[in-house]
Amino acid sequence: MHSPTASSLRWTGVFLLFTAFCSLFTPAVMVKHENFKTCDQSGFCKRNRAYADTITQSSHWKSPYDLDSKSITFENGQLSGTILKTVGKAGETVRLPLTVTFLESGTARVTLDEEKRQKGDIVLRHDSKARKERYNEASKWAIVGGLKISSGAALSRETEAGTTKVHYGPAGKYEAIIHHSPFSIKFKRDGETQIKFNDRGFMNMEHWRPKIEKPEPKEGEEQPLETAEVTGEDESTWWDETFGGNTDTKPRGPESVALDISFPGYEHVYGIPEHASKMSLKETRGGDGNYNEPYRLYNADVFEYELDSPMTLYGAIPFMQAHRKGSTVGVFWLNAAETWIDVVKSKSGSNPLSLGVKSAVDTQTHWISESGILDIFVLLGPTPKDISQTYGELTGFTAMPQQFAIAYHQCRWNYVTDQDVMDVDRRFDKHKIPYDVIWLDIEYTDGKKYFTWDPLTFPDPKKMHKQLQKRERKLVTIIDPHIKNTDKYNVVDELKSKGLAVKNKDGNDYEGWCWPGSSYWVDCFNPASITWWKTLFKYDSFKGTGPNTFIWNDMNEPSVFNGPETTMPKDNLHYGNWEHRDVHNLNGMTFHNATYDALLERKKGEVRRPFALTRSFFAGSQRIGAMWTGDNLAEWSHLAASIPMILNQGISGFPFAGADVGGFFGNPSKELLTRWYQAGAFYPFFRGHAHIDTRRREPYIPGSPYTEIITQALRLRYQLLPAWYTAFHEASTTGAPIVRPNFYVHPGDDKGFEIEDQLYIGSTGLLAKPVVAEGADSVSIYIADDQPYYDYFDYTTYSGAGHHTIKAPLEKIPLLMQGGHIIPRRDRPRRSSSLMKWDPFTLVVVLDKAGNAEGTLYVDDGETFDFEQGAYIHRRFQFDRATKALTSINIGGTGAKTAAWHKTMSKVRVEKVVIVGAPGEWKGKTEVVVSEEGAKESARKKKVEFTFHSAQGKKAAWAVVRDPKVAVGKGWKIDFS
Ligand code: NOJ
Repeated sequence: MHSPTASSLRWTGVFLLFTAFCSLFTPAVMVKHENFKTCDQSGFCKRNRAYADTITQSSHWKSPYDLDSKSITFENGQLSGTILKTVGKAGETVRLPLTVTFLESGTARVTLDEEKRQKGDIVLRHDSKARKERYNEASKWAIVGGLKISSGAALSRETEAGTTKVHYGPAGKYEAIIHHSPFSIKFKRDGETQIKFNDRGFMNMEHWRPKIEKPEPKEGEEQPLETAEVTGEDESTWWDETFGGNTDTKPRGPESVALDISFPGYEHVYGIPEHASKMSLKETRGGDGNYNEPYRLYNADVFEYELDSPMTLYGAIPFMQAHRKGSTVGVFWLNAAETWIDVVKSKSGSNPLSLGVKSAVDTQTHWISESGILDIFVLLGPTPKDISQTYGELTGFTAMPQQFAIAYHQCRWNYVTDQDVMDVDRRFDKHKIPYDVIWLDIEYTDGKKYFTWDPLTFPDPKKMHKQLQKRERKLVTIIDPHIKNTDKYNVVDELKSKGLAVKNKDGNDYEGWCWPGSSYWVDCFNPASITWWKTLFKYDSFKGTGPNTFIWNDMNEPSVFNGPETTMPKDNLHYGNWEHRDVHNLNGMTFHNATYDALLERKKGEVRRPFALTRSFFAGSQRIGAMWTGDNLAEWSHLAASIPMILNQGISGFPFAGADVGGFFGNPSKELLTRWYQAGAFYPFFRGHAHIDTRRREPYIPGSPYTEIITQALRLRYQLLPAWYTAFHEASTTGAPIVRPNFYVHPGDDKGFEIEDQLYIGSTGLLAKPVVAEGADSVSIYIADDQPYYDYFDYTTYSGAGHHTIKAPLEKIPLLMQGGHIIPRRDRPRRSSSLMKWDPFTLVVVLDKAGNAEGTLYVDDGETFDFEQGAYIHRRFQFDRATKALTSINIGGTGAKTAAWHKTMSKVRVEKVVIVGAPGEWKGKTEVVVSEEGAKESARKKKVEFTFHSAQGKKAAWAVVRDPKVAVGKGWKIDFS
């Protein structure tokens, strides 16, 4: 060390002054609010909010929607009828066909349509070619199962005038009480109302009406009345709307659908991603700390998005859960049009005697969509897991990814040449930093023409792939949905000649601007587009790619630089002549879906699990691949915001989620970068990414001690891959989130319902609390139960419900293990996850306060679909205090490929068992007895070395069984008695 000289001090001063000066001119990074609509600027949202206000302010309001009692029929688990909407003063009515379907899972589905539009009995304006019906195909894209109709659902015998009651659900314990006039529904479980429809009377289906064109009045004639003047409604946004210089011609006029949905006794609602908001959703009708805008779902490329905001982002899942102590319920609003959701909370009108279970607060929501039918699923829980399961049965579970996809991904915009890629790859190796995938952003293409390589910068993609393959690493290339409008580009020629592009309102190919400049958009609603899209990914078509190339789908909201709100005009037309308005939020998923299908068919006979990342998504996207939270900022606040966003994805059925590690825009400090890696190690999708204008920041760049600390975080991820993979398997079979918030794991602990900054990994009992504040050297972690929690690294014990402080200097990752679990690991550091395929396992047995523990392990080839034919190992490990034994039990099924896979895995063993919280009575013990199924007589009971380490201060006692040499796929027992 040397002391600062006068000259160095002078230079520091100059430097500080210079930085202060520069910061004056650094443009504030902020979303451009003026580019995106507020509710007030979105006609249908404004109309419906105003409607709600009128109702709230009126003392004698009666909703104009009546279920015609005579129309009701009930057959095969489905109630049908017609709702009559009274319009105008003369009492005319509009017929709205209703169905309420009761499903085997205990879910009820309510649909409402408009007869006139169903029959095509309407006239479109401007000679529009658009379909006349309300959009009714969202379920075709989103729903894959769970629609079996309940055989037990039945009309109740108790009759009350003006109501129809249906018993349904498990043991007939659910009831739907349908009130006819005005129409409303109460959903009850165990005699208590959980969810109410139209309780506040905000239900609204804007029916079709002709526009009364106002002819120029002849001299002396009276001015004819406008439609609105007849009905007394505000017509100003019915027939066209202009925003940011773009006019939406709205050929069908007003057609929104809206409904109030109330959750009595529920203080918390979660879900409806994607927003950079709190996990427990905030109120949206003003007041201290609340939003003034509803949560918006209208997939959009929001540049430099702001935090703590209900503004829309890139994806939409219109699925909400309400939670209180002992109960979770959900509603899935299946609508793909622009949607706004107001949330308010009020003092509960519930019985004070039931306080303590029910919250003293009711949550009331108001859902407003621009078009389409009303289609709502009602899920009555009662646990968060039940909700994940039933929602997953409907929309599908997370696709089981390849193993590499859950390891670390290295991305930036851009690795500029194939040499650059190979250099980065070599540097990771030189620094012994594990990684699995390197990514290429848009610059690899020849002038932004997807499926091509820039001939100057990527002359030899094959060689690049070959180098990566040496360590079984992969390459991901970006493919966006906009296709460059240029000469001599076969992709655009084919797109146009085959008629597969999205059309404008006049039926011609829609042209707009994106990265390549003038572009067309592939319309993946069209099955013919998918067939064509598949041809483009074949290895002999997308030359230079191979089996270790995978795909990144970006800009699929779709992002259109010169379009309204950076997307497509709503009056554009898709396959089947559906307006873009109807399908907007589905658009990204259809593109991602086409890419998935294409990856499945790149080469005949080669069937491996695809990997495709998407930015835009809808309910169901979880079946296809992973998502990330888009263009975040290299700021501490964005690191913090990533955690509730990812947790929210998990409880909303799309858990394979991550955020750009390091932050996309800007240059993170070394400390921020390091902390971000430590947090990213707990994202289900773990990728470092950076904007083109940022400095390089691969883990080896920041230098000592940051590089070493980042490497430790990456190694931790790799060490725990067996636990992560098992969590993914659980998600893929039960819908349970991969990372879970406190309320999900402890649904009865009302103190933890708002906790959103710590995460449990699957069912492993691992609880991480990432450091997200600059300069922090400790974190306060919340423990919900009375189990002991042990520090992952040194076994320090934390016991007792409440907050605990964990020291967290830069090199420390706050990670605890909840007593009662067995965590599988692989401890040998490798350069990529594929190289760990035959490595032995370590089991960490974390005893609970009664001295028991259990856990599971799922292992397959990490690559193919052979697991569907039984090629996997699925074990339950159990440590039982009473028998003093650790056992491994098969919980897997069998199939055609089970035996072969088990044979392949027969040499893969458990090489170490660590017992944390080991009982003191083991002191002095030096061996344990191991037995394995099918072992030879001589080896049936072998003695294995055992060491015991006494507790020290707060550090728990622990013990190690050294190399029991038992096969991971077999049944075995380790006897500690
Ligand atoms: C926007 C994406 O969000 C970002 O991750 C990507 O780097 C750029 N597009 C360029 O492709």
